[in-house]
Amino acid sequence: MVKICCIGAGYVGGPTMAVIAIKCPAIEVVVVDISKPRIDAWNSDTLPIYEPGLDDVVKACRGKNLFFSTDVEKHVAEADIIFVSVNTPTKTRGLGAGKAADLTYWESAARMIADVSKSDKIVVEKSTVPVKTAEAIEKILTHNSKGINYQILSNPEFLAEGTAIEDLFKPDRVLIGGRETPGGQKAVQALKEVYAHWVPEANIITTNLWSAELSKLAANAFLAQRISSVNAMSALCEATGANVSEVSYAIGKDSRIGPKFLNASVGFGGSCFQKDILNLVYICECNGLPEVANYWKQVIKINDYQKSRFVNRVVSSMFNTVSGKKIAVLGFAFKKDTGDTRETPAIDVCKGLVGDKAQVSIYDPQVTEEQIQRDLAMNKFDWDHPMHLQPTSPTAVKQKLDYQKIFDNMQKPAFVFDGRNVVDAEKLREMGFIVYSIGKPLDGWLKDMPAVA
Ligand code: NAD
Ligand code: UDX
Repeated sequence: MVKICCIGAGYVGGPTMAVIAIKCPAIEVVVVDISKPRIDAWNSDTLPIYEPGLDDVVKACRGKNLFFSTDVEKHVAEADIIFVSVNTPTKTRGLGAGKAADLTYWESAARMIADVSKSDKIVVEKSTVPVKTAEAIEKILTHNSKGINYQILSNPEFLAEGTAIEDLFKPDRVLIGGRETPGGQKAVQALKEVYAHWVPEANIITTNLWSAELSKLAANAFLAQRISSVNAMSALCEATGANVSEVSYAIGKDSRIGPKFLNASVGFGGSCFQKDILNLVYICECNGLPEVANYWKQVIKINDYQKSRFVNRVVSSMFNTVSGKKIAVLGFAFKKDTGDTRETPAIDVCKGLVGDKAQVSIYDPQVTEEQIQRDLAMNKFDWDHPMHLQPTSPTAVKQKLDYQKIFDNMQKPAFVFDGRNVVDAEKLREMGFIVYSIGKPLDGWLKDMPAVA
C-alpha cells in the first residue's frame, strides 16, 4: 500500500488529500500539521474550513484511509510520497520584505523530512513557491542524506476556494514537474499514477521542474490580470456611459478571449493573487528584468485603485463625508462560498469607511465576529455589532433581504453600493434607492457627485 503524508492541513492540504483518499481507496493518506486546533477540527464534526461538498468527502473516508494527525515526524518517516502544502506568505521583514515569498515554513518542513527519513522519498511541492525553490529544497534534503534517495517534484495546486472539491474532482489539468533524470522521471510516473485514478491521462501535464513552478505563478498572474483589465475598463465605463457587463459579454464572445473571469468587482482578494504576483515581481527584479517586473506590478496597482475608487465613490456620494452615517456591509470574505478573509477587499473598504468615521455593521454568514475584529484590528467600540441575520448561506441572505422594508427604515436619500454587480439595480431604483453598480451608467445623483480616486 502506497503511503502519502501531507504536511500542512490548510485550505489546500485538507481538501486535496481528502479527494486523493476518496479516489484512491488503496492509498493511505495522512495529513499532518503543527497546529493542534486545526487537526482537532479536521477530526471533529466542524471542519476548520468551509468548502461546499468537503464535509461529505471527509466523512466518507476519515478513519478508513484518511487520517489527520499532529504526529508529524512519525507519518513523514512512514510515507513514500510527502506533499508539502505549508503556507508561503509574503515576507514582512528582511530581504525582499513586501514582495518575496517567505519560505520559513517550507524550509523547516524540509529540514524535518531530512532529519526523520529512513527510506527513499518523493517530496512534492504543493505549496506555491518561487521558481527554482526545488533546487534549494534538494540541497537541504541531500546535504545530510544518509544514503536516502530524494526526488523533488513540483505539483502546484490550481483549485479555487469555494469550488475546491469540484475543481479537484474535475481539474482542467494536473501539472507535474520533475528532474529529467531516470530517477526524476520514475517519480513523475509514480505521482501520475496517483492522479490517474480519476484524472484522464490527457489532462496530466508533465514538464521540467522550473516550468511547473513558474506555471503556477504565471497562471495566477494571468487570471488576476484579466480582473484588473476589466476593472480598469469599469472606471472608463462609468466615465463614458458604457456598461461593463455588456463590454465583458461582447469581448468574451471572442473565442480568443473567452467569457470567464471578466466580472468587474470591487477588486480581487484572497491569499493567492496578490502574494503570487508580488513574488513574480520580486523574481523578475532579482533576474535583472525591471520592465517585466513593472508590467506585473500594474495589476496590483489597478486592484488597489479599484478598492479606493469604491470607497471614494461611497463617501463622495454621501456629501463627501460618512461621519456618523450607518453603513451595513453584506459579505466580508474575499468571495462567496468561503469563510476565508485573507486579503479580502472588504478589509480595505471597511477600513476606509471607518477611517471616515462611519458607523459600520458587517455581516457574513461564514465569517465570525472575532475574525472580522482581528482583520480590522480595531477595538470593538469602533463599529456597531454585526447585524443579527441568521441564514446559513449567502443565497439565503439574498432571499431574506426585504429591500422595500430596508428602504422604508433608512434615512433618505438611501443608497446601495454594489461591489459585485449582484443586485437588481433597476428594481431598487424603482423603490427609491440611489444605486451604484461598478462600471454601469451612473444615476443622476452619482453623476453630480464625482468621486475623486
Ligand atoms: P494555510 O495557511 O491554510 O495552511 C498551511 C498549513 O501549514 C497551516 O495549517 C500551518 O499550521 C501548516 N504548517 C506550516 N508549517 C508547518 C510545518 N513545518 N509542519 C507542519 N505544518 C505546518 O495555507 P493554504 O491556503 O492551504 O496554502 C498552502 C499553499 O498552497 C500556499 O503556498 C498557497 O500559496 C498555495 N495555494 C493556495 C490556494 C488556496 O486557494 N488557498 C490555492 C492554490 C495554492
Ligand atoms: C485563485 C485561482 O483562481 C486558483 O486557480 C488558484 O489555485 C488560487 O488562486 P481563489 O483566490 O481561491 O483562486 O479564487 P478566485 O475564484 O480566483 O477569485 C479570486 C478573487 O478574484 C476573488 O476576490 C474574486 O471575487 C475575484 N474575481 C474573480 C473577480 O473580481 N472577478 C472575476 O471575474 C473573478
